[in-house]
Amino acid sequence: MKNIYLDNAATTKIDKRVLNKMMPYFETKYGNASSIHFLGQENDLEINACKKEIAKVINGEANNIVFTSSATEANNLIIKGVMRANKDKGKHFLISIIEHPCVLASARELLDEGFEFDYIPVDKNGVVILEELKNKIRPDTVLISVMTVNNEIGTIQPIVEIGKIAKSKNIFFHTDAVQSVPYLKIDIKKWQVDFLSLSGHKFYGPQGVGMAYVNKKIKIKPIIVGGGQEDGLRSGTYNMAGIVGFTEALKISYKERLEYIKKVKFLRNYFWKELNKKIKNIKLNGSLRDRTPNNLNIMFESIEGEAILIDLSLKGIYVSTGSACSAQNLKVSSVIKAIGVSDEYMNSNIRFTFGRYNNEMEVKYVIKKLIETVNRLRKFSSAKHS
Ligand SMILES: Cc1ncc(COP(=O)(O)O)c(C=O)c1O
Repeated sequence: MKNIYLDNAATTKIDKRVLNKMMPYFETKYGNASSIHFLGQENDLEINACKKEIAKVINGEANNIVFTSSATEANNLIIKGVMRANKDKGKHFLISIIEHPCVLASARELLDEGFEFDYIPVDKNGVVILEELKNKIRPDTVLISVMTVNNEIGTIQPIVEIGKIAKSKNIFFHTDAVQSVPYLKIDIKKWQVDFLSLSGHKFYGPQGVGMAYVNKKIKIKPIIVGGGQEDGLRSGTYNMAGIVGFTEALKISYKERLEYIKKVKFLRNYFWKELNKKIKNIKLNGSLRDRTPNNLNIMFESIEGEAILIDLSLKGIYVSTGSACSAQNLKVSSVIKAIGVSDEYMNSNIRFTFGRYNNEMEVKYVIKKLIETVNRLRKFSSAKHS
């Protein structure tokens, strides 16, 4: 069997239906949406239509949608833009300790500008501790940023409760919802979020297009300036094919949501049940209950996660050790550290994320190959230590 992809939280293969929708924007509908002529104006109308469609899906306002190049850019815009524009309100903000590196790095960058932030800790299951969140709020806290679903361990955060806390204290609330599609029904109003980020390539759309939901009643400073597109919040020529692809992929994801969830849940649960029967000394990182149905993050005692990843890759099986961003630098995952994993297990985790194009036969094959890999590496590891 060739190329089994179990890294769907890193990126997904584009859906053919999405690609077909995008193609005319490379071939015939290539006008710049800011141009005054027909080819441009037609695309300008299309962008507005896409925003309306997305707004319906997420129960928000079309006018608050800003297209970006990625969720990384959306998160940078929201964290830096909101803090920089609201200095009169305060200089303090809160982020969870398990945020994606683009939120962590944006927060750290603001320290140099005199802003201050605190991390909200998580419990051993990887869920933010609401009491700690409440205790860390200060009179000058401007923004709370907590991701909807963690990218490494798939844990679902208590977004509705956090929204309530934020609103009761008159604090702006951002959630990075990148990993939540379509597992959770995004609801801007019910969640009481002011800001939200999404990324097209995580739900079978194209890479290179993201979205920031921005409550335009709140002041925000752009990070990319120039031609003034997106009401001045994000300059740069609109990525037409990307925007159309993003919208189509989001719509399909929610239309086929229940069927999709059933499928990945079945594959994920089957995989986990079989591994437990067939491989000793493995542990799950994060809660099995408060977690999206596509994700397993497993620790394999006495083996390096990297060694498993490379061995599986040689067999044509693609997984990851954590987020795609941490794959380049072999440091310990801050998420794994935050949930209190002991030192001996620290580097021994592998993330398996199931998706639309996986099937039962593939999963059975991966189990077989993984058993071989683990047995071989454990033999090698015990020989090294004896
Ligand atoms: C939770 C989360 N936030 C942000 C990002 C960054 O998204 P993008 O690839 O669009 O920059 C990712 C991607 O790994 C993610 O998982």
